[in-house]
Amino acid sequence: MPTVPIADRHLNLVPFVSVHHMMELVLEIGVERFLKELAAYIEEDFRRWEDFDKTPRVASHSREGVIELMPTSDGRHYGFKYVNGHPKNTRDGRQTVTAFGVYADVETGYPLLISEMTILTALRTAATSALAARYLAPKGARCMAIIGNGAQAEFQAMAFKALLGVDRLRLFDIDQGATEKCQRNLAGLGFEIVACASGQEAVEGAEIVTTVTADKQYATILTDNMVGAGMHINAVGGDCPGKTELHRDILLRSDIFVEYPPQTRVEGEIQQLDAGHPVQELWRVIAGRAVGRRDKGQITLFDSVGFATEDFSALRYVRDKLSGTSHYVDLDLLADPDEPRDLFGMLLRFPGSSLLAKRQGV
Ligand SMILES: NC(=O)c1ccc[n+]([C@@H]2O[C@H](COP(=O)([O-])OP(=O)(O)OC[C@H]3O[C@@H](n4cnc5c(N)ncnc54)[C@H](O)[C@@H]3O)[C@@H](O)[C@H]2O)c1
Repeated sequence: MPTVPIADRHLNLVPFVSVHHMMELVLEIGVERFLKELAAYIEEDFRRWEDFDKTPRVASHSREGVIELMPTSDGRHYGFKYVNGHPKNTRDGRQTVTAFGVYADVETGYPLLISEMTILTALRTAATSALAARYLAPKGARCMAIIGNGAQAEFQAMAFKALLGVDRLRLFDIDQGATEKCQRNLAGLGFEIVACASGQEAVEGAEIVTTVTADKQYATILTDNMVGAGMHINAVGGDCPGKTELHRDILLRSDIFVEYPPQTRVEGEIQQLDAGHPVQELWRVIAGRAVGRRDKGQITLFDSVGFATEDFSALRYVRDKLSGTSHYVDLDLLADPDEPRDLFGMLLRFPGSSLLAKRQGV
């Protein structure tokens, strides 16, 4: 197994973190510690927001879903994620969201890491949600409703526990099997869990409400009457044009915090509002340039859609953690001829090359 320091490698080789390796890494570090450390990387990168090249992600929509590319760079490193969102996928055993990503050196353009990002996306989404909640949720909040108990749900629960001390959960999903799965997976991990029969029941007594459903349409997971004064809403599932979770009236009563307005105005809950509706950028709050929660009665909404810098931070974190471990394999990814311009010669000299045979008239 490779344990060579990642910086000191053959030019053709790029470390690749498979799903198997990612699971090893996460379990070795520990889920809660991983989430906390990852949140710190995300926070650090939000603080230096102005260093990053930013662009809304490039989305290719189809009837059943979306495939997106999410690039960014801080001038020294470049990262991108390929990610899909197909709510119908779970019906035939596939994930709604899968992803992989690349982290590269700007100076040479050479990739430094390729990684699975399906698990990493669930972790980074949850870490970002909990990070935002640290600035926006009521102080000392311990009870959270989670509506939508699919692949992302447990990660959200674990991040809110690790970063905020949330230890009471109220779960609801239209598929009772999903709630049972979530309850089973989180048993013994320090939560008091109530399975609820409706969204309305789930939000009762909750100080934080996370909506993380998957449906390719304008859905109304929360109606206005379900949202009480002082609540923090972590809206994760509405992340595409035509795909939202909250009734518009809730947005009109909330202070809204977003990642990158040009992307969120198209993809987030705020696509339901006028283009000029005031929103606050999360990075400003984190950098101390704007206020998060002002008072106890305020309704705060983190209109999460997921932004490229969060994936960049996640790849940066994973790369830092890999050094000296065996949680990757080397991929022979980059052609590396002895003389850089002799790429064709490399093909010619490949053992058993048919080109050579042809030239020699064999
Ligand atoms: N904001 C982000 O950064 C980010 C990142 C990852 C995923 N997401 C989004 O989060 C959502 C959930 O992803 P996932 O991987 O957990 O999907 P999933 O398909 O595994 O789970 C979604 C769950 O929502 C439930 N659901 C659907 N409609 C519902 C309703 N009306 N009320 C209650 N429950 C309902 C489904 O039964 C399912 O159990 C997706 O929409 C995905 O696009 C957002």
